[in-house]
Formats: sequence, C-alpha cells, structure tokens
Amino acid sequence: MSPSPTISDPARPCRVLGIESSCDETAVAIYDAAAGLLAHRLHSQVAMHQAYGGVVPELASRDHVRRLLPLVRETLAAARLAPAEVDAVAYTAGPGLIGALLVGASFARGLGLAWEKPAIGIHHLEGHLLAPLLEPDPPDFPFLALLVSGGHTQLVDVAGLGSYRILGESQDDAAGEAFDKTAKLLGLPYPGGAALARLARQGRSGAFVFPRPMLDRPGLEFSFSGLKTAALVALRSRVLDDQIRADVARGFEAAIVATLVEKCRRALALSGHRRLVVAGGVGANESLREGLRRLARECGAEVYFPRTEFCTDNGAMIALAGCLRLAAGARGAVNLGARAIWELGDDATTGV
Ligand code: KG4
Ligand code: ZN
Repeated sequence: MSPSPTISDPARPCRVLGIESSCDETAVAIYDAAAGLLAHRLHSQVAMHQAYGGVVPELASRDHVRRLLPLVRETLAAARLAPAEVDAVAYTAGPGLIGALLVGASFARGLGLAWEKPAIGIHHLEGHLLAPLLEPDPPDFPFLALLVSGGHTQLVDVAGLGSYRILGESQDDAAGEAFDKTAKLLGLPYPGGAALARLARQGRSGAFVFPRPMLDRPGLEFSFSGLKTAALVALRSRVLDDQIRADVARGFEAAIVATLVEKCRRALALSGHRRLVVAGGVGANESLREGLRRLARECGAEVYFPRTEFCTDNGAMIALAGCLRLAAGARGAVNLGARAIWELGDDATTGV
C-alpha cells in the first residue's frame, strides 16, 4: 500500500495505532507514514444487534470493552510491532454513541499513559473523509467531499487537513438512515443498506419513480425522510410479491443516487473543485459509485473512493487521520475527549 504523499517525511517518525468504537464496530489499525497501512482488524457487532432491529447502545459499549484489548494485541502481532515502536494512539472522540465513544477514549488514553505516547482524539467524519488517502494514487488537497454515512449526509469543502467547510447537509434523515429505514419496511434485516442494494438489482428500472427530494430548488441541502414515506405508501397500496419489493428497492435507490449525484454536480460547479472524494458507508453503494464516476467524466473531474471495506467504519481511517494530525503537531488533549454531538470543522483536533 502506498503511503500518503502528505506525510512521508522520513525525518518525522509517525506510526499510529488507531481505535474506532463510535457505534457498532470495534476496529483497530496501525498506519505508518512511510510504509502505509501495516495491519487492521475489525469486529462487527451487527449479528448481536440484529435481533433488536437496530443498535442497542448499552450492548455496544459492553462489547467494545470485551473486544478492544484482543484486537489491539492481534493488530500489533499482525504488524510485528511492539508497543514501543508505535508513536501515538489515535481514537474516535466523536460524534457517536457516548458510551461506545467513552470506552474507546478511556482505553486509548490508558494505552497512551502506559506506553508514554500521546493519545489523539479524532473526529469520526474526518476519519471518513480522509479514508480515500489509504488507497493508491490518493487525492491531493483541496477537494470536495461527499460524506454519506448512517448518521450524516454532508458536502464538505476540504481546503486541507482540519480545514472543513460544510456546504450542505441533510435536514432530516441521513442517506444511510433512509436506506436502513426503507430496508426495514421491505423486511430486510438491520443494517439494511447493502441488502437493499442487492435486492434493487432484481428490480425493474422505472417500475417505481420516487420524488428526487430538493432538486426542484437551488442549494446543497438534502432531505430524505419523505422518500422513505413515499416507499411506505407504495408498499402499502399493493399486494406485495418479491418482484414488487425489488422494484420498490430499485426505485428508492435510484432516487437517492440521482439526488446525491445532482447535488455533487452543483457543489463541484459552485466550489470550482476538480476532485471529488466520496466516503462513509453509503459510499460502498455500487450504483452511487457508478453515477458519480459518470458525473466526474462529464465534469472533467476526478472521483476518489476508499475500497468498500473502508467506506464503512474501520480503524484504518482513524490511524491515518491520527498520523496526519501527529505530523501536523497534535499531541493529545488533557481531558478524556469524547463528544456525542460534534460538528465537523468545529475544533476538529480534540474532544472535550
Ligand atoms: O459510515 P458507516 O459505517 O457508519 C456511520 O458512521 O454511520 O455507515 C453505515 C451506513 C448504514 O446506514 C448502512 O446501511 C449503509 O452505510 N450502507 C449502505 C451500503 N453499505 C452500507 N447503503 C447503501 N448501499 C450499500 N452498499
Ligand atoms: Zn462512520
């Protein structure tokens, strides 16, 4: 894996162990400025939460407690490193489930104290938007980022590390949330985004045409809650069979993708950026990736995606962000550093 060109200064040692625990994935990775990603491990709690149809915060926190230490040991062993060879620990400080965040923050800061290394709090969405830098031929700053996760849908003007300006965001449900809620209506297990996308492949194009929210007015804001309601109305007014369910999935996915692509077109034109970075769980959606590739060709822009496993939550993006922050002078905060609600661009270096 090629290292990020922005941090490969050999005079600066920079090897960071990253910890992600903001929701239902426990993940650990080690990123080295010169050698790239050395190792990454992840435990998904999806099977545990599925019985409840969504994430149960208390169960999530307890599972992070159980998983973190074995995952750190495994990751160090896979990278063939001793703790002394790590320069810093980075952890997701927010936003997310507060209990889950506190487990990761206390654990990371405990490791930092024991290893006598800085512990650096990272904004979860900063991790996501830097994830394409884990890939070969990473984008240079500045760029436009489309962040599409379970909790956020945002268009961000990224001038450089830590310099983020939100150009538009969802006024209600995030894209991933809309996927998950509609998947539930279709009888698919939590989290339903990827399953809905698979079902949509069996659907007939044009059988259902749902509204494209907020395309009829200028601006870069999103709204997806009405789309979920439109899908509900379509499902209620018919006798359902597998084909109809697949058709609804296809129509729903097409409406989300068309909306996201059109807002990216506007944001590229408004910002003047020629690089578009796509990140967050919904960035794994093949139809969205195809739509944005087409858009990039039409606009003469470049589009960058992380590999699909780094679209959803992972430790590699936190280790990479920690490495960039360490190289930029971050040394960790004195407080615990976990924030459930935390706007990207609002003091993105440390939690409170
Ligand atoms: O970024 P992420 O792992 O977690 C948050 O930070 O929220 O995103 C998870 C979201 C979920 O809503 C999930 O259903 C959605 O990403 N997702 C997808 C796909 N894979 C994951 N949505 C649509 N198509 C997919 N292939
Ligand atoms: Zn995420």
